[in-house]
Amino acid sequence: MARVLTLFAHPRLDRSEVNAPMFAAAQATKGVTCIDLYARYPQFDIDIAREQSVLRDHDVIILMHPLYWYAAPAIIKEWIDLVLEYGFAYGADGTALRGKVMFNAVTCGTPRAGYTPDGINRAELRTLLMPFERTAELCHMRYIAPYATFDAISLRAGNKVSDTVAQWKNFLTALVHDRIDFDKAKDALTLTDDLQSFITPENG
Ligand SMILES: Cc1cc2nc3c(=O)[nH]c(=O)nc-3n(C[C@H](O)[C@H](O)[C@H](O)COP(=O)(O)O)c2cc1C
Repeated sequence: MARVLTLFAHPRLDRSEVNAPMFAAAQATKGVTCIDLYARYPQFDIDIAREQSVLRDHDVIILMHPLYWYAAPAIIKEWIDLVLEYGFAYGADGTALRGKVMFNAVTCGTPRAGYTPDGINRAELRTLLMPFERTAELCHMRYIAPYATFDAISLRAGNKVSDTVAQWKNFLTALVHDRIDFDKAKDALTLTDDLQSFITPENG
């Protein structure tokens, strides 16, 4: 069983239509620890020792957030800046995170086709998330492709939010039960372009 940590950040959770039910589903998934960073640290007074202790106790770290201005909401950056300290996460003696898996679980307003070099965003989502990938690698972690929910704004209109939430919960359950092919997921552009291909069968 993998110990899964979801670090969640949404600056306007009261207006959220997609992340709010997805985060609730994560909270309801056995084996997943959920931290709402804006709720825990409304003044950005991040308790570094507490966060580092939580990290030590988990195998998979998910940064869960909407994409805001091609990036993560500010508290994720603050958390990274403060918690991933020299001597803890990197540097000669900074090996606390070695071998852990990290990825972004991100919702985007733009449809999938917009996240290509020729699309409206001029880049793949994974390319835009490169600072997270490089940070994870510098901290000796295994970064895998983002779990991307595209076209988030249209999901509600199409009554597709519940399908999205069910798919996410299914994925998290597989993650907890060590049924995700991390080697394959490491090189993919997203996990969600072909989600089932990363999930091994229950008896597989
Ligand atoms: C301030 C702000 C910035 C945004 N920037 C982006 C962006 O860069 N790319 C994108 O695809 N969507 C962007 N969006 C759309 C959000 O990602 C989208 O509304 C969100 O993922 C939907 O999830 P929610 O219902 O949980 O809020 C932005 C939305 C806001 C409010």
